[in-house]
This record gives sequence, C-alpha cells and structure tokens, in this order.
Amino acid sequence: MTDGVEEDNVAFYSDGEAYWRGRPPTVDAMLGGYGHISGLDVCASRKFISQFLGEGPGKTGQTRALDCGSGIGRITKRLLLPLFDRVDMVDVTETFLKRAPAYLGADAQRVDNYYCSGLQDFIPMPGHYDLIWIQWVIGHLTDEHLTNFLKRSCAALRPGGIICIKDNVAQEGVIWDGEDSSVCRNLDLLCRIVEDSGMSIVEQKCQDNFPKEIYAVWMIAMR
Ligand SMILES: C[S@@+](CC[C@H](N)C(=O)[O-])C[C@H]1O[C@@H](n2cnc3c(N)ncnc32)[C@H](O)[C@@H]1O
Repeated sequence: MTDGVEEDNVAFYSDGEAYWRGRPPTVDAMLGGYGHISGLDVCASRKFISQFLGEGPGKTGQTRALDCGSGIGRITKRLLLPLFDRVDMVDVTETFLKRAPAYLGADAQRVDNYYCSGLQDFIPMPGHYDLIWIQWVIGHLTDEHLTNFLKRSCAALRPGGIICIKDNVAQEGVIWDGEDSSVCRNLDLLCRIVEDSGMSIVEQKCQDNFPKEIYAVWMIAMR
C-alpha cells in the first residue's frame, strides 16, 4: 500500500519536472501563455506585501527574501529586488536558474543563491528570511510535502518575517492537471494546510482584474 503511494508521488514529481524542463526560459512560459498579466500581478503583489513592511514591532524587515519556484526570476526582478537588499531563488528546473542572471541584469549581483531543488526536499536556512514568497508552484507539491515545506519555511523566518503564497484556487474540490502534473486546491483546503503547518493566516486577498477564464488567484500571508 505504502509502496503504491510512494510510486504515485515519484510519477507526480517526475512528470512535473519533465513538463517544466520542456518549457522555454521566458516570462510567457512562466505564466502559461499569459505573459501580458505579469505587470498586473506584480503590482497587486507589491500593494499586498507593502502593508507588512517597515521598521518597528511586528513589521517585516527588508534585508532578505526567498523566491520559491522562482523560474527565471520574474518575481525576483519586479517584486523582490526593488523591495529587499538580497534575494535567494529556488527552483527545480536548472535551465530557468541558468537563464536568471541574464534576465535579471545588473541587479543579479544582489541574488546570493540560485538553489536548484524541489521544494519538497529544500530546507531554507533557519532564521534567515524576512519574506518567503511562494507563487504558482504549490500545486506541484503533495499536501504532506506542502505542509512540511511551510513548517521549514516558518523556521527560516527572521523576527517579524512573513510567508506569502500566491496561487490558483479552485471553486471546490481539488482539480488535477495532467498536462503539467499539478493540482489546484480550494481555499478551505489551502487554509487547512496552513493551519496544519502551525502558522496563522494574517491577511488574504483575491487578485483583481485577471482574465475571467483563468482560476481565481489568491494571496495568503501567514506567520
Ligand atoms: C508556473 S511557473 C511560476 C514561476 C514563478 N513563480 C512566476 O510566477 O513567475 C512554476 C515554476 O515552478 C517550478 N517547479 C515545478 N515543480 C517544482 C518543485 N517541486 N519544486 C520547486 N520548483 C518547482 C517550475 O520549474 C517553474 O519554474
């Protein structure tokens, strides 16, 4: 029984990795052909995260951020490097990380680490980050691996630090996508996973003005 579950997990991850290995290192590919919504996406993310940033009790510092499932660094470039001194990136697809320095340009000098790893295996450095941003990648993790990754991410926060998930949300149930081997969870399940990780949601907001035909996209901040 356990072996079957393990085998399913192996195929779930290897199929997802194979899908992304076959995609070009472009913004359009990062967004599944919706490259034109990148500006709108980053703008809303900046507004969402800005409410937590600053100095003083409970505020989130701006020294170091981690971009999870970073791809070529679309979010690192437009959202994180303008707000944080130093950024680390982690992604399972090596070709995307190799492309990142050229895509980031001169600001790449403020990216310290390009970790090539699945988030299911990755251990962010404890007590290291003010912000951990996790966008459009959680569907590639099983519930158990996502819960455990959130626990490790929580341990990787500096005082006042915060974790944000931004991702597609299903209206009900869990929707499987066989093309890229991912799942889309409903909001209740996502909130339950956050709770199971031992954190609390401090703010959540649905993205405005995205195309009608795509999933609702939610930003969820937790600590
Ligand atoms: C839809 S793209 C999003 C990229 C980036 N977050 C953005 O919004 O521009 C999904 C990214 O997740 C990465 N990915 C897929 N499975 C992963 C895993 N198990 N661990 C880490 N990264 C993964 C892919 O290589 C790809 O770069």
